[in-house]
Amino acid sequence: SVTTSGEAQLAPVAANVIESSKEVTILFGSQTGNCNGLAQKMAKKLKELDFQITLSSMGDFKPNGLKKVQNLLILVSTHGEGEPPDNAIPFYEFLHSKRAPQLEDLSFSVLSLGDTSYEFFCQTGKDFDKRLEELGGKRLSPRVDCDVDFDESAAEWMNEVISSLGQATASSTIANVGSGSELSATESEYSRTNPFHAEVLENLNLNGRGSDRETRHLEISLEGSNLHYEPGDSLGIYPENHPRLVDELIEAMGWNAEESVVIHKNGDRKSLREALLRHFEITVLTKPLLTQIANLTSSAGLNELLKTGHEDALRIYLSDRDLLDLVQDCSLKDIPAQEFVSILRKIPGRLYSIASSSKSYPDEVHVTVRTVQYEQQGRDRYGVCSIQLSERIQAGDSLPVYIQHNPNFKLAENPDAPIIMIGPGTGVAPFRSFLGEREETGAQGKTWLFYGDQHFSTDFLYQTEWQRWLKEGILTKMDVAFSRDSDQKVYVQHRMLEKKQELYQWLQEGAYVYVCGDEKKMAHDVNAALATILEQEAVSAPRKQRSI
Ligand code: 2AM
Repeated sequence: SVTTSGEAQLAPVAANVIESSKEVTILFGSQTGNCNGLAQKMAKKLKELDFQITLSSMGDFKPNGLKKVQNLLILVSTHGEGEPPDNAIPFYEFLHSKRAPQLEDLSFSVLSLGDTSYEFFCQTGKDFDKRLEELGGKRLSPRVDCDVDFDESAAEWMNEVISSLGQATASSTIANVGSGSELSATESEYSRTNPFHAEVLENLNLNGRGSDRETRHLEISLEGSNLHYEPGDSLGIYPENHPRLVDELIEAMGWNAEESVVIHKNGDRKSLREALLRHFEITVLTKPLLTQIANLTSSAGLNELLKTGHEDALRIYLSDRDLLDLVQDCSLKDIPAQEFVSILRKIPGRLYSIASSSKSYPDEVHVTVRTVQYEQQGRDRYGVCSIQLSERIQAGDSLPVYIQHNPNFKLAENPDAPIIMIGPGTGVAPFRSFLGEREETGAQGKTWLFYGDQHFSTDFLYQTEWQRWLKEGILTKMDVAFSRDSDQKVYVQHRMLEKKQELYQWLQEGAYVYVCGDEKKMAHDVNAALATILEQEAVSAPRKQRSI
């Protein structure tokens, strides 16, 4: 689904044929690597058409070179509450500062990636687009904002940009954009858009009896897929919606489960039940979805919620309701199934940090998944994928999976570099991969793990593995914080503060710090603890201070 906002179309669009320059600079700002991948694809296409390409991450681009750029393509995702990805921040700030140059000679176009279930959908892309216009740039083609299933919209944007960049482009080549190019021997044919149906080899609960939580450890076979991953990468799993939720939805709407519906632009059809189980998102609501449903019905409540001034109420509604709630709250009925499913989002894969090193487990990938389950408004609610893995997937079953590379979370290349890993709860998963990798490669660098969960006796994920690695010296140090074993809550950041001198020492030795887990609270608190440590230790040991 594409939304190209009105404001994006206001600026003059540059003339169709740019004769003066075949130079194109492509900059990407990527949190998970999707923009990076698309930027590379775009670069390849343009190179085939004899354009001279400068391809760079925004993080590596020297902004004072901007004045010389004639054609600029920006591919950027939006993160959290409308923020730029980490590697885009310096460039974003430069461009929005007084230091930014006038760019009257610049032609540009922006592709923004985002998620319509977030309030500040594609905000970073919108900001770049607006700012480049303010600085005098002309649009080669209008900005395109993509939702999570970005492939088609991104391919359309590429085609638009290519045709604006010059008519040297033979139409046959244009038609090629978006389709896969030939694979090299090491590349897999499987990807997010063509997932591999992988066999589940193991599915265990890591928590002990009596724990409040359930955490599944899954071992999945990648044999025959030619899929490769590195520590820090994620596994995408396409889940199936809960059959009970699907059946209740069909019943509430008075539909026929066996009715055939179109599930794809190419005309593919499935039964309604199958479509709702496997193809469409029915748990996450978005504002565009509510707006479209409001257009199909005359629900006064829904129209009220969408009015300006009700943003807070809308945010709360979107955050804790699913499609069945919406149907019930607005007494939706008389909407034909086909019309309804055609406005739903395709179900996106769920990403999990990979917990294995492929060097320790060739042809396998492991993930650590906490089951999300709670009650709200008298009904049991679940995490779509985690409840499926918990209740309905056994060894021998298969799951559609893909690898999502993560350029921003990489094990230090230098085998001697010390690493500090902070990963409470399932956040510990990638560190099992890091240590496996260090073990298999014989890396000598020091390693330090901070781990925490509720109770030592039931929630110590992978306990025996850490203990073995400690004994063998692959893990140099481990500090644990079991938050509910004492009267006072203890968290990983408390352990870090207790060890602040030693931690500071490691930082001075050039340690890399990795944090994985809950972003909303834990990561901020850990960040604050690190800032405190740096401040306090730099003051108490000024002569040792070095830039870190
Ligand atoms: P709690 O549930 O007892 O509050 C993994 O979920 C672990 O992270 C749990 O022990 C949890 O503790 C803890 N945790 C919760 N909030 C945290 C925070 N802000 N910082 C660090 N750890 C936190």
